[in-house]
Order: sequence, then C-alpha cells, then structure tokens
Amino acid sequence: MSVPLEISRGTGASALQEAIVNNHIIILVDVLRASSTIITALANGASAVIPASTVSEARRIAATLPNALLAGERAAKPLPGFDYGNSPLNFLSTKIQGRVIVLTTSNFTRVLGTPPASSTILVGAFLNIDHVVHTALGLYKLSPHPITVVAAGDLNRPAAEDDIASDHIIYRLTHPDNPPSYASSEDIARELLVTRHASTLISLGYEEDIHFCSKINTYSLTPILRQGAFVTYI
Ligand code: MLT
Repeated sequence: MSVPLEISRGTGASALQEAIVNNHIIILVDVLRASSTIITALANGASAVIPASTVSEARRIAATLPNALLAGERAAKPLPGFDYGNSPLNFLSTKIQGRVIVLTTSNFTRVLGTPPASSTILVGAFLNIDHVVHTALGLYKLSPHPITVVAAGDLNRPAAEDDIASDHIIYRLTHPDNPPSYASSEDIARELLVTRHASTLISLGYEEDIHFCSKINTYSLTPILRQGAFVTYI
C-alpha cells in the first residue's frame, strides 16, 4: 500500500525538534548563509563539515582533529583566530580539499544543536535545490516518512530569506516532474537582496555572497548529517 506524501514546514529549533521526534525527513534551510556554505564546502572537496553550537566547542573539536579548519561567524563577521568566516566564497579555495571544516554560526548551528544519530537531516539552499528535493523524495520512497522543510530563521523568529527558499523547495517537492514555472537565479537574487539579513551582509561588504547564494543548481549534491558531521549524501 503506498503512503501519501506529507509535506510540512516550520521555523527554528522548535520546529526542528518536532520533526526529529516524529521521524520526519528534514530539509534544513539557512540560505544566507550557513546552508549555502556547507554545500559549497563539500562541493569543493571538504571531507566533512562538523557543526558546533558555540565558538569554544568549535575550537575544542578542531583541536582534536589534526586536519581541521575552523570556520564561522558571529554577527556575520569572521571570528578571531579562525581560518574562514561563513562566506560560501571562502570555500571555493582548493586549500579545503580533503579537510574537515568545523563550523559555528550565529543561528544555523545553534538551531541544529546535537540531534540524535537516528535523525535524517539534509541541508538545502538554492545552490542544490533540485538535488535536495530529489534526495528527500528518494528517501521518502525508500522509507515513507513525512518531509518537513525547516527554515532556520533568525533565533526562532522567521527570516524572510529562509521563508523564500523554503517556499521554493516546497514548490519543487510538489511539482518534481513537470514544473509549471520556476524562478530564475536573477529573480531569486532580487527577492533575497531586499531581506533584513541581506542588508546586514551588504553593509559588511558581502553583497557578492547574496548573488552567489541565489544561484540555482550550482551544485548536484546534498549534505546529510551523519554521526555529527555533514557529509555528501551518496
Ligand atoms: C547563521 O547561521 O546565523 C547565518 O548563516 C549567519 C551568516 O550570514 O553568516
């Protein structure tokens, strides 16, 4: 008997917890910029991205791994002593090939926390939108659990850019084969550029990040959380 596909959405840590408790297939979205950064790092050869909730936890984890690079931000600014900030453009470098990235961010890694190993958490953004949609639908076919798209939001409040990306992901989840019309990367950039977080990023000189994060299907991969690290889903 086929089980009808249920798709829902939510915002922030409480929605994520509820989806975890109910065994949902989860797509976690922080389009500006943590999701986009994790996808870009794995696509450019990082072996894993380990999320850390706090700066001290990130330093502690990195100290135990000889191959690790430290990355992250607070208030969108790079952290002292870290190798990289949270700009996805940092991860276009060949220097990250084969390296583990330990990432701490203001919101995404705190919303994520430390979920149980049994959870199914994928990372979605415009950069991998078709791949993450097909991965989630493929996982549903293997084991028919509901799919929940969780917008990371901004410390449990909605963030417009994550709502926009979640809407686009849900649209594609519900029109996987014959989409009536999809927005272009330029349309997405126009929508993202006027969000509150985009204004912060622009004021800090990161406007290029917003254009980069608006690009649809740059990468054909989906990060999945396995034993506390995001790796490429195979
Ligand atoms: C976050 O996780 O809070 C964001 O990715 C912040 C940022 O733009 O660096």
